[in-house]
Amino acid sequence: MKVCVTGAGGMVGRAMVEWCTGQGDEVAAHTHQSLDIADAGAVNAALQGMRPDVLINCAAWTDVDGCETDHEGAYAVNALAVETMAANCRRIGASFVTISTDYVFDGSKQGFYTQRDDPNPLSVYGDAKLEGERRAQAASARTIVVRTGWIFGAGGRNFLSRVIELAERGERLQAISDAYGTPTYAPDLAMRLRELAVCDVPGVYHVTNSGAGASYEEFARAALAASGRETVVIESVSLRDLRRPAPRPQNSRLKCLVSEAMNLAPLPDWRNALKDFALRIHQ
Ligand SMILES: NC(=O)c1ccc[n+]([C@@H]2O[C@H](COP(=O)([O-])OP(=O)(O)OC[C@H]3O[C@@H](n4cnc5c(N)ncnc54)[C@H](OP(=O)(O)O)[C@@H]3O)[C@@H](O)[C@H]2O)c1
Repeated sequence: MKVCVTGAGGMVGRAMVEWCTGQGDEVAAHTHQSLDIADAGAVNAALQGMRPDVLINCAAWTDVDGCETDHEGAYAVNALAVETMAANCRRIGASFVTISTDYVFDGSKQGFYTQRDDPNPLSVYGDAKLEGERRAQAASARTIVVRTGWIFGAGGRNFLSRVIELAERGERLQAISDAYGTPTYAPDLAMRLRELAVCDVPGVYHVTNSGAGASYEEFARAALAASGRETVVIESVSLRDLRRPAPRPQNSRLKCLVSEAMNLAPLPDWRNALKDFALRIHQ
């Protein structure tokens, strides 16, 4: 399969390139430096040059608080650029896979969000990502939207890397005990993204690791245990205490009705994925 990956320098992008390359695909890995997805001419040239079977978009402006104060920048990258990529894919007969977020939901639901739940983003980031989903679907029928959340893996700045960094520096950890999500391991997500590209069944998917989900505090404790740092003290805080520019959903656990209906095997439990990640970073 000929695969074009954008955002190839990011956490998911790296895992994506590694997985597809290992599967024997011909991969064009575009980092932010080599291809700005907001540059429509450059996107068109890259796709016309390669004519991939699929474009997997792992690029996004993921600074949730940064997006909150720069609407224009957030929509340019997370909505308009996504639409342009989808339109270009349609023109060359490629399918388009793009990653969206659990932050399209407002968090007021008890339990897991499925495709039957109406999105209602609280933040500019979430709103721009939802706009990206809708514009891409309107621009190309062969669009696969993958909502995911709480991603951890190598080479990114995320909640988990921050926990381990603070623990290594001997600093006190604070973790939210009353906000819940479904942790997702970047290599598992990459495997499923490629599988969905091969299936070529358009739609909206929710992709996370299995398990009951977790609070940030449970996630942090499991991460510290998996990396042999159980003794690090964690102070519980409430989401209300988090004074950040962008509001976050209190609950953004995801469940996928479509993957179940398609009989796709559930991804491993997030606690096992976390152990795998801890082993990898200690190798
Ligand atoms: N991380 C999470 O917990 C999480 C949760 C839900 C959904 N997601 C979604 O998952 C996807 C992958 O995120 P990630 O965690 O891998 O984030 P990441 O590590 O921040 O990777 C995103 C990549 O996109 C690049 N990028 C930003 N603007 C770009 C542009 N205009 N053109 C080309 N590349 C650009 C970034 O480059 P620079 O760093 O150089 O700007 C970065 O390499 C995103 O769609 C994100 O919204 C992430």
